[in-house]
Amino acid sequence: RPSILLGVPVQEGAGRMGCDMGPSAFRAAGLAPALRDLGYIVEDRGNLSPAPLRDLRHDNGAIKYLPEVVAWTEAIAQAAYEAAADGIPIFLGGDHSLSAGTMTGLSRRAAEEDRPFFVLWLDSHPDFHTLETTQSGNLHGVPMAYATGRGGFEGYFPALHAPVKAENVCMMGIRSVDPPERAALATAGVTIHDMRAIDENGVVPLLEAFLRRVAATRGRLHVSLDVDFLDPGIAPGVGTTVPGGATFREAHLIMEILHDSGLVTSLDIVELNPFLDERGRTALLMVDLVASLMGRRVLDRPTRSF
Ligand code: ARG
Ligand code: MN
Ligand code: MN
Ligand code: MN
Repeated sequence: RPSILLGVPVQEGAGRMGCDMGPSAFRAAGLAPALRDLGYIVEDRGNLSPAPLRDLRHDNGAIKYLPEVVAWTEAIAQAAYEAAADGIPIFLGGDHSLSAGTMTGLSRRAAEEDRPFFVLWLDSHPDFHTLETTQSGNLHGVPMAYATGRGGFEGYFPALHAPVKAENVCMMGIRSVDPPERAALATAGVTIHDMRAIDENGVVPLLEAFLRRVAATRGRLHVSLDVDFLDPGIAPGVGTTVPGGATFREAHLIMEILHDSGLVTSLDIVELNPFLDERGRTALLMVDLVASLMGRRVLDRPTRSF
């Protein structure tokens, strides 16, 4: 199956500008040649553009760029729905608001195929705010709430063809949660492994338990990788650094196990802000992580099954 690169230069969902340069930085860091080296046919579909803007106002006056993010979500959802039929789409962000579009377009495709849809969310944040609860007003903080069908998005964001089931979402790396997100997550049904769970158990058993659930179905598995999942010491090129993140070795190990599982059908790489990066090191690390996810190995070894 070809890898399909789709640039999504949305930056209005983040608190500061610069994520629009993310797709360029991933390309400059050698994403396509890294995938070709692994034997993939790579189809770079270039960068998406947003749908036409509509005049949208919300009572929560903190919200920033609602028409822009909604217009992006419409375009991204359609592109994700289409690309999912053609290969393994890799969405090059862009801030994390883009996952409002990818998750909903991909879950629509899965529903039409009569397959369950799973999401592995690798992030320091759950991004589980609604339009009512966001205090920063940065809409990269809402995509998981929207995609799982929490209320209050109707009339603003596109209507959902197939909401993502909260039970099919697994989050890892969580270490920054706002009070309304915490309250909602207590009953939502999402599996959440915070950094304490990673420290106590290691990433392997937590990830394997989720992959076994996916493998028991013929489901699609979408991976959404936020740069701030990683420790800021290895990944400084992001606007929302949170201390205590995943190490280089934990992140590569997760990617390698994901590849061994053979279950991943799509990927977001989001929140890279090249303006904040140091000589491209965060972009290069993200490209290396994608290569591990897509099969790069230090040594040949038997693949594992789940
Ligand atoms: N919870 C915070 C907020 O809503 C941070 C969100 C960060 N999200 C992200 N995709 N980086 O503002
Ligand atoms: Mn097509
Ligand atoms: Mn995020
Ligand atoms: Mn984050």
